[in-house]
Amino acid sequence: VHHQNHITTVSLPASPARSYPIAIREGLLAEAASSIARTAGPGAVFLVTDTTVGRLYGRQLHSACARVVSRCALLDFPPGEGSKRLRVYNALTRRLLGLGAKRDSLIVALGGGVVGDLAGFVAATLLRGVALLQIPTTLLAQLDSSVGGKVGIDHALGKNMLGAFHQPCSVLIDPLVLRSLPVREFRNGLAELVKIALALDGALFRRIEQAAPRITRTAGPLLRELISKAVSLKAAVVMKDEFESGLRKTLNLGHTVGHALEAASGYRIRHGEAVSIGLAVEARIAVRMGLLEEPALERILAVLRALGLPRDVPSGINRRSFVRSLSLDKKFTGGGTAYALPAGIGRSAIGVPVPGSVLDEAMES
Ligand SMILES: NC(=O)c1ccc[n+]([C@@H]2O[C@H](COP(=O)([O-])OP(=O)(O)OC[C@H]3O[C@@H](n4cnc5c(N)ncnc54)[C@H](O)[C@@H]3O)[C@@H](O)[C@H]2O)c1
Ligand SMILES: [Zn+2]
Repeated sequence: VHHQNHITTVSLPASPARSYPIAIREGLLAEAASSIARTAGPGAVFLVTDTTVGRLYGRQLHSACARVVSRCALLDFPPGEGSKRLRVYNALTRRLLGLGAKRDSLIVALGGGVVGDLAGFVAATLLRGVALLQIPTTLLAQLDSSVGGKVGIDHALGKNMLGAFHQPCSVLIDPLVLRSLPVREFRNGLAELVKIALALDGALFRRIEQAAPRITRTAGPLLRELISKAVSLKAAVVMKDEFESGLRKTLNLGHTVGHALEAASGYRIRHGEAVSIGLAVEARIAVRMGLLEEPALERILAVLRALGLPRDVPSGINRRSFVRSLSLDKKFTGGGTAYALPAGIGRSAIGVPVPGSVLDEAMES
């Protein structure tokens, strides 16, 4: 069982040619060079990473690739949300073009959600689009951001304001790399796991409740099970609604409040932490709107607590900048911000308008 690949295939009905495999197995990174070589063919390979992941895994992958592909270069940038910016996008694309990137080049995003979103956006736009292979190295990226094709960067006016849909040609997930992840970053990813379960699957939610104390960076089979389950749930949604015209909006649970908190904190709150607080606040909103029963709210708050995730809005968040960020949200339409809200454990409602007074109460409780 240990050496078996768990493979989920994403098939996109609009264009079957763009279907791609998501492989999950311990030890996959050590063998990634041969998959990269197969995917790249005669084209050049550009490994994009941040300096932390570059030191831990990038250099080794680069040497392995250099032996099996025609041309290979490693490009890195400083870690953190601050790199999801036009400035870093400019620097990366300048280097790639300088190194002779062509339409048949392959970009490999090796890192967390920041690397995946930024390198993915580069791949989506460079020369009108080049192939992208995702090797996610944080829990958040493994169970959420590397699957589904959303890529992008932040703008002074808000989170993920410049972006594209650009599906990868394959995703390689190696849970072993999570062993080097700081605990705070591991927890950060658990918030997206709770989101996926809460939005889509009551059974997965129960599994998380029951296993919470045992979900650690070294929890081999349990971790693989949870990542695989989350990935297949997300893949199923992406297959039905690639461009987020309906169903996929359910995965924005926790993100309306979460994104505004991230921006209003000047990105000092990590994305997953903001999503965790967002889930708690939005669950309180859902109770006030009559969508969610009180006991379900208690379960949501309890599972976040058991996983060591934050639930309360930190003091020091500026109200005005929070409200401004909220109104700039992509989910803001003429009529106001349309929330995705929990409507039970494993069920969600989308496009719900929330009165300001209800939001205020939920933020303060
Ligand atoms: N595209 C999507 O669908 C989607 C979904 C969810 C989140 N996101 C985005 O993902 C971003 C957050 O991603 P993240 O939390 O992975 O952040 P991140 O990429 O900044 O990674 C967190 C930190 O962990 C380090 N790191 C990464 N892998 C490591 C490893 N194996 N060992 C040790 N250190 C490691 C990184 O250097 C970084 O400092 C946000 O910008 C968010 O908007 C995108
Ligand atoms: Zn998210």
